[in-house]
Amino acid sequence: MTSVMTVLAALLLSTTASAAPPRLERQGTTMRLIVKDQPMLLLGGELGNSSATSAAYMAPYWPKLKQMNLNTVLAPVSWELIEPVEGTFVWDSLDQLIKDARKHDMKLVLLWFGAWKNSMSTYVPAWVKRDQARFPRVQLPNGQSTEILSAFSTATRDADARAFAALMGRIKAVDAQQNTILMVQVENEIGMLPVAREYGAEANRLFAERVPAELIKHLGATRDHRTGLHKLWAEQGGKSEGSWTEIFGEGDAAAEAFTAWHYSRFVEALTTAGKAVYPLPMYVNAALNRPGKAPGEYPSGGPLPHLLDVWKAGAPSLDFLAPDIYFPNFVELAARFYRADNALFIPEANNSDKPEAPANAFYAFGKLDAIGFSPFSIESISEPLPNPLADAYAVLRQLSPAILSAQGLGRMSGFKPRVLEDETVIDLPVTEDIGNYRFIVSFIDPWLPEAEQRTATHGGLIIQTGPEEYLIAGQGITVTVKPVGAGPPLAGIEQAWEGAFDAQGRWVPARLLNGDQTHQGRHVRLAPGKFQIQRVRFYRYR
Ligand code: DGJ
Repeated sequence: MTSVMTVLAALLLSTTASAAPPRLERQGTTMRLIVKDQPMLLLGGELGNSSATSAAYMAPYWPKLKQMNLNTVLAPVSWELIEPVEGTFVWDSLDQLIKDARKHDMKLVLLWFGAWKNSMSTYVPAWVKRDQARFPRVQLPNGQSTEILSAFSTATRDADARAFAALMGRIKAVDAQQNTILMVQVENEIGMLPVAREYGAEANRLFAERVPAELIKHLGATRDHRTGLHKLWAEQGGKSEGSWTEIFGEGDAAAEAFTAWHYSRFVEALTTAGKAVYPLPMYVNAALNRPGKAPGEYPSGGPLPHLLDVWKAGAPSLDFLAPDIYFPNFVELAARFYRADNALFIPEANNSDKPEAPANAFYAFGKLDAIGFSPFSIESISEPLPNPLADAYAVLRQLSPAILSAQGLGRMSGFKPRVLEDETVIDLPVTEDIGNYRFIVSFIDPWLPEAEQRTATHGGLIIQTGPEEYLIAGQGITVTVKPVGAGPPLAGIEQAWEGAFDAQGRWVPARLLNGDQTHQGRHVRLAPGKFQIQRVRFYRYR
């Protein structure tokens, strides 16, 4: 009897005990997402803005997303839907979303569409929209107000933080055991339009005040000269105190830094309120700026590459800052967000039908240790199969254990041609040393007519799995090797196998590649058109 009761008590405990919430954890030079104590690579897609508001609308899409080999869906939760009346929360749509995700064995990242979504404030409840006295709007230099809530209102911040904390409470209540929800994005693409800063009375008052000491201290401690702000600060004499214009100069740059600081402080309030209830990883996403445009022409003060340090100082409780990358220069832009203090996650990696997206995913995971990749409007893909993104995710899913164990440890890299902002493709070979071999990766396939190749879609990754053994995956890349370091001066292919990993993670070899497939031992070729994996052992001779 006693033992039956002990078993029952243990069972009860195991069903009610919460798992540790998903978290980020350091490995080597990078961070990994840990879910139920296991690292996870997030193969995601973001839903169109309105799709998740209707379970019936979503119903036919879930199986398609599954077919496309996604493991995570990014879905908005909007303030107006969860708190239609102040203080009264309605969880039906969130609960249904979680149920549907679980039914399809899918994880979720929730996007909090609160005070701001793409700069604007259209997702706030009617009781906020209609009460301009309590929830003031941004004022433009001519005094005109806009449909953007002011970041300088404590009433707005507190109301948003209360709703956000309620959301985290609901997540904790319904998901602390299952961990269907992995992370939460705080607001969406914050940034001031159409000018660099607000011009209401409170904004003007604060703009004339001193730059907060925490920000100056942070800038002093972080000497990352990739951000223009350090440069501006130095140009003004690197003062340790002064007003925004004294520290950063006259003009838009100071106004933008000011905007970034106050947005980041607002977000920090939400993040701490949310994490106090349930500490999931949290991040903000950036609508990137096009060079040559003034702040305000693009969303001013968002978590942009040149403002990352302002955001790091202003919102230290965020786990990372994330870029939405719609511009063609993916390689350059993604790298700006890959720093010792910032894990890379790309919540919007262009639209899901962009032919470059799959190769960008290989690059992000292989070269920049990304924790996740997620093209936008994922449900709009009409044919889930055959589809290049589905293909790429199938391969990345098989490779996830190998990628995760190599991230941050210097035994992996990713390859794809750089594309410039004007869409010029730099498809010259790229050279990289991994272990004792130098890899020369070419993006123009030697066996197919060059004019027919779209090299911006070519790419892959290489993972060292043993002293001379490598997994080489992707499409449209041709790889040659040379030895590195002491030893015989020449390198050859001992064996190259085409194959796949099964559901248990065991390697299942298919063809042994030789002869024409390796150009008689001269190269490893992953032909354009289909993502694949080869397991290759090299050797050295004289
Ligand atoms: C970026 C936004 O973050 C998304 O919510 C969506 O509006 C897309 N732009 C549309 O391209």
